Amino acid sequence: MNKTAKTLFATTALSAALGAAGLAQAATLNIPCSTGSGFASCEQTAQEWAESRGHSVNIVTVPFSSSEKLALYQQILGSQSADLDVLDVDVVWPGILGAHLADLGPYTNGAENDHFASVIANNQYNGKLVAIPQYTDAPVLYYRKDLLEKYNEPVPTTWQQMTETAERIQKAERDAGHDRMWGFVFQAKAYEGLTCDALEWIDSFGGGTIIDADGKITVNNPQSAAALDLAGSWVGNITPQGVLNYDEEGARRVFQGGDAVFMRNWPYAWALGNGEDSPVKGKIGITPLPMGPDGKHSATLGGWQMAVSKYSENIEVAADYVLYVSSKDAQKRGAIVDGRLPTIPALYEDPEVLEANPYFANMRAVLENSVARPSSVTGEKYNQVSNEFWNAAHRVLSGKSSGADSLSQLESKLKRIRGRRW
Ligand code: GLC
Repeated sequence: MNKTAKTLFATTALSAALGAAGLAQAATLNIPCSTGSGFASCEQTAQEWAESRGHSVNIVTVPFSSSEKLALYQQILGSQSADLDVLDVDVVWPGILGAHLADLGPYTNGAENDHFASVIANNQYNGKLVAIPQYTDAPVLYYRKDLLEKYNEPVPTTWQQMTETAERIQKAERDAGHDRMWGFVFQAKAYEGLTCDALEWIDSFGGGTIIDADGKITVNNPQSAAALDLAGSWVGNITPQGVLNYDEEGARRVFQGGDAVFMRNWPYAWALGNGEDSPVKGKIGITPLPMGPDGKHSATLGGWQMAVSKYSENIEVAADYVLYVSSKDAQKRGAIVDGRLPTIPALYEDPEVLEANPYFANMRAVLENSVARPSSVTGEKYNQVSNEFWNAAHRVLSGKSSGADSLSQLESKLKRIRGRRW
């Protein structure tokens, strides 16, 4: 039997077995894969699932940016279209998209109990489980080990120290002829990524979480203003002006190209930065994001879940796909190949996962202390809130406003969005 015939035979036998087990006949699922570094793995996993189940997949390329992706998904779901059977859901979206997502409860067979309970709790909408976690996320500070050693600088632990070390090394490297060298890169495009970065700055300065757990708008305070002013002072000095348009990939390209001392990014950048073709392979260190003046660390909780559209014509098959890509095996591969943080606790002790990502041993503590964006309390209105917050931060970073003025403007806008209550 040649390979195609063998695969066909296996697939038919499997379909028959699955049919007997009560699963639907062969179906084609429309599956989104984001542009950027994770596309290949997304496509490969989808194809493997299709082959193992006797179904087929149609890969739909969707934007990398969380904000652009949300706009697309709202459009598709808003028109009750089956253009996508499954969706990858950012940790801040269950309250926004929940009404369009299928209840996965009947299909999981208890699989949700394998994951961190807090992540599962976040995936409930009106008492239903509407998504299963694929990976979690918490940012770290990447630094150039070789450059810190060369200039005899310790790994910085506060934003102030990081600023000074970045200035010093950037200047010395430029004096030595590396004129494209920068001190620090991060995400400052006007989108969800900037909300994550700016929340970390203000929270680590003791300025709180924009809106507190009771729904009170707390963002307009001197600590938050000071944090934004410090970040504003970076742009044009230790950070290129271009940062105002960087997402995660924009920052990674500069750091991975060897042109930055420090970078704020999510764990996915580790595997790529140490890839065979990376100019900084073996030269990267990782440490928690720096602390504010009173010794507080902060790291925004991120992460992605898989969900099934309520408008899918193949909900049961789509639920099987979602369980497949969130399973322990799939998460283990995601951790090893793509540097993603698992949501299954046992994988933090898995020797192969730790070999690929030695620093994961410390990431559980970072995750446990991470700060959530105010998405639960603002529910459906979260994206409007975030949009105003990232614009307020962008105004300061682009030199158009002081931290204090921008936050006072933001407070009025948030009050209008809230109306009588969230
Ligand atoms: C990462 C995080 C996600 C966040 C996004 C912002 O993908 O996992 O939660 O919203 O970055 O760019």
